[in-house]
Amino acid sequence: MTRITAAALLGISGLILAGCRQDMHDQPKFIPLRMSDFFADKRSARPMVEGTVARGQLKEDTYFYTGKIGTQEGDVMPFPVTADVLARGQQRYNIYCSPCHSELGDGNGMIVQRGLRRPPSYHTDRLRKAPIGHFFDVMTNGFGAMPDYATQIPVADRWAISAYIRALQLSQNAQQADVPAGMQVVPESQLTSTVPATNTPGSGATEPPKQVKGGETK
Ligand code: HEC
Repeated sequence: MTRITAAALLGISGLILAGCRQDMHDQPKFIPLRMSDFFADKRSARPMVEGTVARGQLKEDTYFYTGKIGTQEGDVMPFPVTADVLARGQQRYNIYCSPCHSELGDGNGMIVQRGLRRPPSYHTDRLRKAPIGHFFDVMTNGFGAMPDYATQIPVADRWAISAYIRALQLSQNAQQADVPAGMQVVPESQLTSTVPATNTPGSGATEPPKQVKGGETK
């Protein structure tokens, strides 16, 4: 008797379980690229709605991504230049650009010294006057013999490098008037004439060596 009950229970639960499985297996769905009779073109995968934008690819801020206003290279940074931005730009510049352009930007980088084609110096009138968007554009699309760096350098870093190149240019072509009041360096000629000699670096700290009389040293 108990055996029959047990067998019946087993049979019933088996049926119930099988019933559950059946629905899961036969649900109406298309696996990727499977044919369909439902749509006229027989494709189950539907074309994208016009104007669909993939996540993270909206690129709404055109200037940030192209450096251009219309077809013209722009001359403004798309975000504020802080000390952090410049430090980042310097670090990225030294990694990606200095091998050819040199850390100074004069075009005399290490692989140029070993024979690669020499790029122009950044310290020419033409490139000093070039809008900042030009540097961004050169990195984004390449320029003549120079390949683009769009895949290696993210957009914000390309701007940081552009800002740093501006700083490099200023560093090689600065006037006294560019320095904020109170931070101007006094020219050396004035230093020696107005400051007492004992206060100038290197002269006051150590006493002149004492004269040793001939007999005392030996
Ligand atoms: C492999 C060497 C090499 C590297 C690395 C390199 N450049 Fe250049 N770059 C060149 C050469 C060569 C030219 C000259 C191209 C020409 O005139 O055909 C050039 C030209 C330029 C110019 C001048 C464009 C003009 O208007 O004349 C700029 C600006 C510039 N590069 C920026 C950069 C920046 C920024 C980086 C780093 C992201 C970089 N380059 C990395 C080789 C290089």
